[in-house]
Amino acid sequence: MSRVAIIGAGYVGLTTGACLAHLGHTVVCADIDEERVARLTKGEVPIMEDGLFDLVAEGLESKRLRFVIGAATAAKTAEFVFLCVPTPQGDDGSADLSFVEDVAREIAPVLRPGTVIVNKSTMPVGSTRLVQRILGESGATIDAIGVASNPEFLREGTSVRDFLHPNRVVIGCDDPKIAVRVSDLYKSLDAPILITEPASAEMIKYASNAFLATKISFVNAIANLCEAVDADVREVVMGMGYDNRIGFEFLNPGPGYGGSCFPKDTAALLHASDLAGYDFSLLRGVVEVNRAQHERMIEKTRRLAGGSLNGVPIGVWGLTFKANTDDLRDSPAVFVVRRLLEEGATVRCYDPSADERASKVMAGTEVVSDPYEAARGAQVLAVLTEWDEFRWLDFARVREEMVSPTVLDARNLLEPSTMRRLGFNYEGIGRS
Ligand SMILES: NC(=O)c1ccc[n+]([C@@H]2O[C@H](COP(=O)([O-])OP(=O)(O)OC[C@H]3O[C@@H](n4cnc5c(N)ncnc54)[C@H](O)[C@@H]3O)[C@@H](O)[C@H]2O)c1
Repeated sequence: MSRVAIIGAGYVGLTTGACLAHLGHTVVCADIDEERVARLTKGEVPIMEDGLFDLVAEGLESKRLRFVIGAATAAKTAEFVFLCVPTPQGDDGSADLSFVEDVAREIAPVLRPGTVIVNKSTMPVGSTRLVQRILGESGATIDAIGVASNPEFLREGTSVRDFLHPNRVVIGCDDPKIAVRVSDLYKSLDAPILITEPASAEMIKYASNAFLATKISFVNAIANLCEAVDADVREVVMGMGYDNRIGFEFLNPGPGYGGSCFPKDTAALLHASDLAGYDFSLLRGVVEVNRAQHERMIEKTRRLAGGSLNGVPIGVWGLTFKANTDDLRDSPAVFVVRRLLEEGATVRCYDPSADERASKVMAGTEVVSDPYEAARGAQVLAVLTEWDEFRWLDFARVREEMVSPTVLDARNLLEPSTMRRLGFNYEGIGRS
């Protein structure tokens, strides 16, 4: 078993740390957020992830998991240092690697010979070499330090399950001995391990996210066409998904993709394509369809409100970028709400995961703690995230709460015939 340092205790870092401790490794997780470290040390998990609380508790109890402030403190005794810091979108669309670069500079002087740096953050092709170069320039004995790319494919909401039962583990390293050492960390998992060139590993992550984004934009385009020709996209997707070559996953039409990964990773891949002189027009189309799909939600709401949103009370269910997470970053729902406000609507929102953070992000709206309250007095109710609990509410009561029983179901969560029978003016996505 190995001594592992994790730098960045967010969705990826905390999950990776807690899961590696569960697999028997000794893990130190570092963050710069002092409050986060203090809470985690007490066993309080600041993000919503199924199973993570139990794994953190288990790690603290067994003393295989602890939390510290600052990357260097964690890295100095580690055999492996996982970089799990943000790589947000830069102004030109590229991945902003400044967090990674700062950490590499900070840890370089304390690393022991034989330590392996594992790039788990999503980073463009060339980042393995970039980290190696910064370590060398910042005081690390570079011949003695290895760097590998080990992109992460977990999904928020199911991150623990995804980490412990991955479809594959990808390790990109040009030194086979280092690649094998990294793969040994995962050897108790029942998953294929692919050892590749660093550039291929880095590209696998971007290609995978771009492909998933493409599926979403494709099905949204089909849904829009279904509306124009009176077909039902749910039936279309059913008929497509049974084809093994296509499958059902990522074929749910909606308000467009969002979250902390797909928008920035597609932008970064487009940027990298431009730099490489390749015109990736397909991916540009995917991004454009997505932007238009967000805007289409505003057009639908405006039409359902009678042509103008000015002064119109709108109820919103769902703020997170998808169900079963508390993550609001780049959420299509947040985009839609902000646009509704711009057009003069008054918005009252409910999300099952919302806390005071949501109220801050949703400034200008009222965030309430009850779905019926969000519907109260609304002229249109927009269902923007696919939380399962929305299916099971008392819709007769919802209708009573609203001034006009009109629902935009941007996730096709509800049954159109039932809603119409209950007296709603119902509109979904891609349904005749
Ligand atoms: N969230 C996902 O679903 C997901 C999935 C796969 C890959 N990724 C990638 O993983 C990376 C991390 O994403 P995330 O969602 O976990 O981010 P996050 O924002 O949830 O967590 C990042 C953490 O790093 C900390 N941090 C920043 N600078 C630091 C420093 N110098 N030292 C120590 N800690 C520092 C932050 O305080 C924060 O807690 C990104 O590159 C992302 O693209 C994310």
